[in-house]
Amino acid sequence: MEEARPSKTALRVALRRAAHQLYDAKPLVLDDPIAVLILGDTYAEELRRTPTRPDRPFSVALRAFLVARSRYAEDNLAQAVAQGVTQYVLLGTGLDTFAHRNPFPHLRVFEVDHPATQQWKRELLETGGLFAPENLTYVPVDFERQRLPEQLDSAGFDPHVPTFFACLGVVPYLTLEAFRSTIDFIAEQRPGSGVVLDYGQPRSALPFLEKLAHDSLAARVQLAGEPFQLFFTPTEIAAELTAFRNREDLGSAEINARYFTGRTDNLKVLGSAGRLLSAWL
Ligand SMILES: C[S@@+](CC[C@H](N)C(=O)[O-])C[C@H]1O[C@@H](n2cnc3c(N)ncnc32)[C@H](O)[C@@H]1O
Repeated sequence: MEEARPSKTALRVALRRAAHQLYDAKPLVLDDPIAVLILGDTYAEELRRTPTRPDRPFSVALRAFLVARSRYAEDNLAQAVAQGVTQYVLLGTGLDTFAHRNPFPHLRVFEVDHPATQQWKRELLETGGLFAPENLTYVPVDFERQRLPEQLDSAGFDPHVPTFFACLGVVPYLTLEAFRSTIDFIAEQRPGSGVVLDYGQPRSALPFLEKLAHDSLAARVQLAGEPFQLFFTPTEIAAELTAFRNREDLGSAEINARYFTGRTDNLKVLGSAGRLLSAWL
């Protein structure tokens, strides 16, 4: 992504999480009372324009995927905390609001993000009168230029306790080298640590209509200055994660079965491009 500018894709994702709070039927898949607040008046107009029309199925499906991935991360985090995890590291946090809804008093939260995006988020929070909770630490890092372990270390990260990591909406924007060094670092953590990430399948693995949806999304993120550069098939990503046990890799059928059954609206994920993965040490 561009060095000095906050992530535009982080804004787009946050707009869709906020749209979910306002426009989708209850019960929500991701109940996030901060999602609209963090955007404040600055982006209220963009929020009204955020596509929610049911006649744009790929757009609705994208919103479904984005709320499901945050919910999946928080479900896995709850399991991790129940098993003794006391640190949560959000890699490429964007405008994620978990730290402001954290129900676990002993869980320390580290928000790792590109410095420009993190600064912008902090300004939005301040404008909205949302103050950083005591157990939140900001860690500015550019994954392509800085070393994550050193930056976390100087922020007070404790490598001696099990930690849960979320890496949501980040993998497709990384180089393979940055992805591998991030995964290698997570793989070195204490037993009981875990990670949730989402990834996209390569265009060549998609059926025709999904190739068109892929091209449209890829063109939009390219225009935003954050081109996609990394995709995996399930077999390929499994080969990257051999250090982990109990891997779970969900496609749209499993995601719909878990989070979108019995809804009164038509919110659900579509196609085979996006997948959710969790893995443990
Ligand atoms: C699509 S947004 C997702 C944000 C957030 N995880 C969410 O789900 O709302 C991508 C995030 O990755 C971060 N990112 C992309 N490339 C990065 C890099 N080289 N170093 C640090 N962060 C990066 C951006 O700043 C942005 O916050």
